[in-house]
Amino acid sequence: MSAPAPWQAPWQATVLTLFPDMFPGPLGLSLAGKALAAETWRLETVDIRAHARDRHRSVDDTPFGGGSGMVMRADVTAAALDAVADRPGPRVYLTPRGRPLDQGLVREWAAGPGLVLLCGRYEGLDQRVIEARDLVEVSLGDFVLSGGEIAALAMLDACVRLLPGVMGAASGADEDSFENGLLEYPLYTQPRTWEGREVPEVLLSGHHAKIDAWRRAAAEAVTRARRPDLWRAYRGDDDQS
Ligand code: ADE
Repeated sequence: MSAPAPWQAPWQATVLTLFPDMFPGPLGLSLAGKALAAETWRLETVDIRAHARDRHRSVDDTPFGGGSGMVMRADVTAAALDAVADRPGPRVYLTPRGRPLDQGLVREWAAGPGLVLLCGRYEGLDQRVIEARDLVEVSLGDFVLSGGEIAALAMLDACVRLLPGVMGAASGADEDSFENGLLEYPLYTQPRTWEGREVPEVLLSGHHAKIDAWRRAAAEAVTRARRPDLWRAYRGDDDQS
């Protein structure tokens, strides 16, 4: 683990949430936890409720126009965002309505100075604060979580593992799924025979060119079968219409 050079500011994560105790959570362990202890990155949480102004400390209210659930108030959420206006990085609002997160966006954000992440709860956030504070809306996928916190943890994990020194030289981020537009090829280790199943012969050959070719073909096959969208983009016949 190499700490950043003294003149280089650590990558800064600022998380606005109604549940600050959910952080760092799993990011306090393993690679991300070691990097946090080494100050390769920093984590600051902001309790949105601390910015409520009324006696009941309310952060939400019923939706204008009716409907079920509650909506996070623009004034309270904006006050929380404005309190960290000087923190570096794009302001990201985690919501199933957002642009899907992908490895390209993760790479871009990991290469920047940090992120400010706003975790939604209830039915969502008043639209006016999204527009007024220029929030980038990002989704983890086509499913609904009970709040943005677990999405924020996942997003931070994806970014932090790409920070210089976090993964170590041995593990190649270059071969991860999506880095070359394909899903990753299958992996094998000891024992060579397990429950009567053998490791593909070519992987034992020591012939690096053949191994590379086999892996490339296997990565293409799995991508084609599981992810026609990635396969079309990889082949260059991605008609966006
Ligand atoms: N909050 C709730 N569901 C979410 C999702 N799928 N992605 C990001 N944030 C969310």
